[in-house]
Amino acid sequence: MADKNFELLDPASGKKSLLPVRQGTVGPAVLDIATINKDQGVFTFDPGFGVTAATESKITYIDGDAGVLMHRGYPIEQLAEKSSFTEVAYLLLYGDLPTAQALQEFSLSIGHHTMINESLLRFFGGFHHNAHPMAMVSAVVASMSAFYHDTMDINNPRHREIFAHRIIAKIPTIAAAAYKHSLGQPFVYPRNDLDYCANLLHMFFAVPCERYEVDADAAAALDLLFILHADHEQNASTSTVRLAGSTGANPYAAISAGVSALWGPAHGGANEAVLDMLEQIGSVDQIPKYLAMAKDKSAHFRLMGFGHRVYKNFDPRAKIIRAMCHKVLAKLGSADNPLFELALKLEEIALKDEYFVSRKLYPNVDFYSGIIYSALGIPRSMFTVMFAIARTVGWVAHWQEMISDPSMRIGRPRQLYTGPVQRDYVAVAKRG
Ligand code: CMC
Repeated sequence: MADKNFELLDPASGKKSLLPVRQGTVGPAVLDIATINKDQGVFTFDPGFGVTAATESKITYIDGDAGVLMHRGYPIEQLAEKSSFTEVAYLLLYGDLPTAQALQEFSLSIGHHTMINESLLRFFGGFHHNAHPMAMVSAVVASMSAFYHDTMDINNPRHREIFAHRIIAKIPTIAAAAYKHSLGQPFVYPRNDLDYCANLLHMFFAVPCERYEVDADAAAALDLLFILHADHEQNASTSTVRLAGSTGANPYAAISAGVSALWGPAHGGANEAVLDMLEQIGSVDQIPKYLAMAKDKSAHFRLMGFGHRVYKNFDPRAKIIRAMCHKVLAKLGSADNPLFELALKLEEIALKDEYFVSRKLYPNVDFYSGIIYSALGIPRSMFTVMFAIARTVGWVAHWQEMISDPSMRIGRPRQLYTGPVQRDYVAVAKRG
């Protein structure tokens, strides 16, 4: 409910309207413009949604100026230090931290939905061996609606819950199948005695001809990365899931749309692009040349892993991942990682550069994550898939929140039309 109003006056007509100012639990207030067209006959214009709150949400809060990120009120630093990915998934989906029993039941349910239908598994054989894994993952996720339609009534809360557990459980299996297909190796079935990330590493790296022991440190590092990627309020892929889902489309279709949106280099694809860029830079003495390119608009080159629409300060996730790089690389025996050294130097130099300082461009979550994925043996083309696995939890939580809201409407933006005014059709023979 609004406790104050903003007065809008059209000086030409003298028409006044009162726009309610709505205050959330924390963060800046928003102007409710729902009646602006009825009152004043205008729409609002905000390309890229720079200042538009597209929805109300109780899931995640970001203060971009202060570098704060909280899920359901819990700061990301506390979750990263004390929680597990499965627990964070529960928190995002259900709103509170689970009791010990609730966590056990949730983990058991996720553990028992990990297999995918064998026919779905055969889809992978239809892809070219060098297909990008994101292409396979988005296609197979969309295809899940052809297999699990018995529980796809979006108005049935139990169906929605089964969907949520299914997709969270099966997305690592789908990702691993995409990876194994690209290697030409046999698919490795999930193991329900392993936890979420250990199972994922097992499906990625085990082969039938020898025993594979999951490295506990590697599984713990992956778990932490997944916590950091689990949700990030109304980012491009989450907004895509909401928009697709707002049409009443089945949830697998909506999540598949989210996977596709995440793929772009301005979003989740940045983690892959960062390592390409670091390799391209090659050595510390080349950094000034590439910084100059990043500042030159005509060079069409951006410092990948730098900058963020919301953070105008350090991305708190990047800070945690940078500290984690030191630990993980030391533990996994690759402490002298030249790309990590180069990334540290690039960050140091960029953060002293007036261009980056004045635009408040800091390293984001993707700047260091690829270095850890590489150290875990995950190939570059799979980096964005790893992001998609973790973000599936956020997508599902937002989809659930939207669908269970009785006031949900189809998302349908307006536009400022600048095309031709009405003109008459001219027969082809008469066109000059
Ligand atoms: N390198 C060089 N200049 C940059 C960069 C960069 N990475 N990012 C922004 N700028 C400049 C931009 O050219 C503009 O300068 P000017 O004011 O002179 O025109 C100014 O900073 C503001 O940039 P913007 O493009 O208006 O900012 P945005 O909010 O629309 O874009 C972004 C945000 C993340 C897409 C952008 O910073 C970017 O392209 N970064 C590189 C890609 C990247 O790391 N993406 C991952 C984002 S975090 C994880 C995720 O969302 O998945």
